[in-house]
Amino acid sequence: MEFRDLVKKRRSIRTLQAADVDKEDIKDIIKLAQYVPSPMNIQVARAILATDKAHIKVWETVLAKVIPLTKKENLMRTKQKIAGFKAGSGTLLIYLDKGAVTTLQQKYPLYAENMPQYALEEIGMFQYVIWLGLVERGYSASLQHYNPLIDDELAKAFHVPRDWQLISQIPFGLANEAINSRNLMDIDLIFKAFSE
Ligand SMILES: Cc1cc2nc3c(=O)[nH]c(=O)nc-3n(C[C@H](O)[C@H](O)[C@H](O)COP(=O)(O)O)c2cc1C
Repeated sequence: MEFRDLVKKRRSIRTLQAADVDKEDIKDIIKLAQYVPSPMNIQVARAILATDKAHIKVWETVLAKVIPLTKKENLMRTKQKIAGFKAGSGTLLIYLDKGAVTTLQQKYPLYAENMPQYALEEIGMFQYVIWLGLVERGYSASLQHYNPLIDDELAKAFHVPRDWQLISQIPFGLANEAINSRNLMDIDLIFKAFSE
C-alpha cells in the first residue's frame, strides 16, 4: 500500500473480531518500529504482545478494574466497549523503559529535564509505526489507556521489568464496526509557510 493511502486508512477501530495472528508478523512490525527516531538513540520504547489467553487476561483485568469505577448509567456502554477489544486477536502493550531515561539524564545533565518529554515523543512515533504496520497487514486497531489501573496486575502476569512503565494498549483484530468519516481541521488553521 502507498504510504499516503496507509496514513489515511489508519483509524481508531474499537469493535473488533478475531483473526489468526502470526506472531512473527507482529514481531516484524516491532522490528520496523525500532527504526523510529529516539532521543540520543537511547531507544526507550518496549512492547509486549498478548494473544490468546494473555489477550483475554488483559481485557478481563481492564474490566475488573474499570467496572467498580464506572457510573451505573455507563455500565452497559463500558462493558460493550471492553468486549469490543477483547473480541480482537491480540493486544500490544507499549512500555517506556524509565531506566533508559534515567541513564540518558545522567549522561546529558543539561537536557535532563526534557528527557521525559523526548521519551514520550519516541513512544508516540513507535506507536504510530506499529499502528500503520498493523493496518498494512489488514488489521484494525486503536490506542487505549487503561494504565495505571492495570499496571500491577499485568506486570505480575507478564513478568514486566520493574523499570518499564505502561504507556498504552493497542488491541487489534479485524474491524467489526462501520468506519465513519473524520473531520480534519482546515489546513490554513494548522499550517503556515514563510520564505522570509
Ligand atoms: C495520545 C493519544 C491518546 C489517545 N487515547 C485514546 C484512548 O485512550 N482511547 C481511545 O479510544 N482512543 C484514544 N485515542 C484515539 C483518538 O481518539 C483518535 O485518534 C481520534 O479521535 C481520531 O480518530 P482516528 O484515530 O479514527 O483517526 C488517542 C489518540 C492519541 C493520539
